[in-house]
Amino acid sequence: MNLKIVRTNDGSDTIYNKALDESYHSLHGSIKESEHVYINAGLDRVVNNKKNKSVSILEIGLGTGLNVLLTINYAKQKNMKIFYHAIEPFPLENSILKKLNFSRKIKEFDIKIFEKIHNSKSQTVTKLSNNFKFKRSINRLEEISLKKEKYDLIFFDAFAPSKQPDIWDKKNFSNIKYAMRREGVIVTYSSTKRLKRILKNLKFKIEILAGPMGKKEMTRATK
Ligand SMILES: C[S@@+](CC[C@H](N)C(=O)[O-])C[C@H]1O[C@@H](n2cnc3c(N)ncnc32)[C@H](O)[C@@H]1O
Repeated sequence: MNLKIVRTNDGSDTIYNKALDESYHSLHGSIKESEHVYINAGLDRVVNNKKNKSVSILEIGLGTGLNVLLTINYAKQKNMKIFYHAIEPFPLENSILKKLNFSRKIKEFDIKIFEKIHNSKSQTVTKLSNNFKFKRSINRLEEISLKKEKYDLIFFDAFAPSKQPDIWDKKNFSNIKYAMRREGVIVTYSSTKRLKRILKNLKFKIEILAGPMGKKEMTRATK
């Protein structure tokens, strides 16, 4: 088996891909990392800057669905409306997903919602709750055509640039920029020189923020 479950330091599970020698989250804590990078530095920032309570999110790399689950809880707390579009060319099998310990680690975890996230038909919008619409695209970022100015927030959660350099390409960020609304935000755990150079070339405003546990920095870029 190429994939196995690994327990991270905050007690929550992640998946390790042996072929790539890469895990889906930081081994210092998968939930801690997702909360720090995507919810606190990304979603919370966009919500505080936007006047209306509706946010449209694009995630690169759905993986386990952890970022969706944390976004659902945030949206519930703040009584917000979310459209969440996640791209994932290599969906995880149910046999591994059901072994993750998210049901014990995530507040109000709902197995029906978890199953809907991972079994939804590609390119079809599914209602996860009254105020939460979800769309999964079983495609590579490189092959998908994104709509102009659709998203307020991008969760760029691809495998590390050292493991999957092509996805961190200027062309991909240029396509993403086209799909972002004015003042839209990209957040990612990575902060390589190449990434900063690409974002600068594309005229994003770049902020280098403190990273999650075990990582000095992360990146937030605003259109
Ligand atoms: C770091 S993991 C994502 C972690 C995920 N957000 C989570 O919370 O579990 C990177 C993900 O990107 C996906 N991926 C690989 N190649 C991709 C591509 N070309 N376009 C979009 N996603 C890709 C992988 O299959 C993997 O699920």
